Amino acid sequence: MFLIDSHCHLDYEPMASDIKGTLRRAMDKGVNGFLTICTDLPKIPVVMDIAESHDEIFATIGVHPHEAQKTLSEKELFKVLTTEATRAKVVGFGETGLDYYYTHSPQQDQKKVFKAHIEAALECDLPLIIHTRDAEEDTIEFLKTIGKGKARGVIHCFSGSSWLRDQALELGFYISISGIITFRKAEALREVVKEVPLDKLLVETDAPYLAPEPYRGKSNEPAYVVETAKKLADLKAVNFNDLCDQTTQNFLKLFSKVILPCA
Ligand code: NI
Repeated sequence: MFLIDSHCHLDYEPMASDIKGTLRRAMDKGVNGFLTICTDLPKIPVVMDIAESHDEIFATIGVHPHEAQKTLSEKELFKVLTTEATRAKVVGFGETGLDYYYTHSPQQDQKKVFKAHIEAALECDLPLIIHTRDAEEDTIEFLKTIGKGKARGVIHCFSGSSWLRDQALELGFYISISGIITFRKAEALREVVKEVPLDKLLVETDAPYLAPEPYRGKSNEPAYVVETAKKLADLKAVNFNDLCDQTTQNFLKLFSKVILPCA
């Protein structure tokens, strides 16, 4: 069995202070690959240090929509993203997207920053990690117009509608499932996820957030992605080991720059 946590924030506490322990607990459970996701440019040195000092950890570079207001201009951001992408451990861009639920940054700023990520993804042929909340239509519109339908990537922590699922799949995007799927009240989400083809599914923790049951309320960590994978295997009515293998294959297909030490 081999599982990959396709989205975690290893630079966030309490994981950052105990990377060794975090990795050991994950590997004890069969979680052997990690994608640590950058959320803002000042975090790049820390995120890259974590990735570059561990063979099993890969990184993305990006500016979260919450941080869009205070980042670089579109042009400067494109430059930083495409430059950072030349590093071996940078395997994607994000997390990026649109969040009209919190709107911590004005929509206009979010759109500019999202556009820069999509253009960088096309330029470097790297996948996008998409965060979308209460902004499904604009997100798809951007992927179709700016991304010209050619940008590839994943809808991370999927919690959207069947419409978003179908649109994303049509664009060739993957759907990443978080611990939310284990929550008792997430029946509607489980119905939407059930119809995602097996070869389009990824699993993630979004650690330190969103710990799955039975750890809900605790700080999340990559070891717990096992609970999400178990729930997903049940939902898709497939063997747990097969689900692990399939999501690993999917991850490696999407993040084609990743070379795992023992896969
Ligand atoms: Ni995240």
